[in-house]
Amino acid sequence: MEKGDLLYEGKGKRVYRTEDPEALILEFKDTATAFDGKKREELDEKGRINNRINAFLMDELAAAGIPVHHRRVVSDTESEVKALDMLPVEAVVRNVVAGSLARRLGLEEGTELDRPVFEFFYKSDELGDPMINQFHILAFGWASREEVDRMIELSFRVNDVLVPLFEAGGMRLVDYKLEFGRFRGGLVVGDELTPDGCRLWDLSTGEKLDKDRFRRDLGDVLEGYREIGRRLGVDL
Ligand code: C5P
Repeated sequence: MEKGDLLYEGKGKRVYRTEDPEALILEFKDTATAFDGKKREELDEKGRINNRINAFLMDELAAAGIPVHHRRVVSDTESEVKALDMLPVEAVVRNVVAGSLARRLGLEEGTELDRPVFEFFYKSDELGDPMINQFHILAFGWASREEVDRMIELSFRVNDVLVPLFEAGGMRLVDYKLEFGRFRGGLVVGDELTPDGCRLWDLSTGEKLDKDRFRRDLGDVLEGYREIGRRLGVDL
């Protein structure tokens, strides 16, 4: 598959066209950013590690019958994906209190939730991805009611697959962010599933293995990512 023009460049990824209008190439960059790009660093190997972990997790979801955009790994840092028409929202599922939920409600990080929490955010770098709810999505025409329901349903199904998968590797899936897009009339999980977009804590020690290491200077970032890959049995 020939890589065509650069279609989009984000903080952590580049997206290229291909000769197939229904396929794109996703390239995972080595750049790490946080706080809406204010903190930034090049981490040698991050692109390769995230490409592998993403492919592994997307394949697990696909095997469980969840529609995903990932098709196949095409190089160390690139994967072929379905060309989705992305919705401008982020879906976050939380199993444990952390991050913006802890700040917003004044709760202690690490507080267990009796049941998972689902939240929508509006994708906007300028506005800092503000939290929204389904009424905003419907009022602004960002998705239909059926699509809103489907995003919530699929997000929880992803949780049902990923929680035991990480637990088997001695990790707690604290929270994660998903993005969705339209493909041939249905909604599909897009974007990425990597330690950049989820929180993973060691089950026994609580050690943070994910991007919070970068955000909060908690130690070698890539060592955490490699540890996640190793524990999942991903060939890094
Ligand atoms: O910051 P917050 O606590 O709302 O993040 C919840 C989860 O969503 C975290 O795992 C974080 O890494 C992820 N997230 C993301 N991209 C964003 C916002 C949050 O991957 N723009």
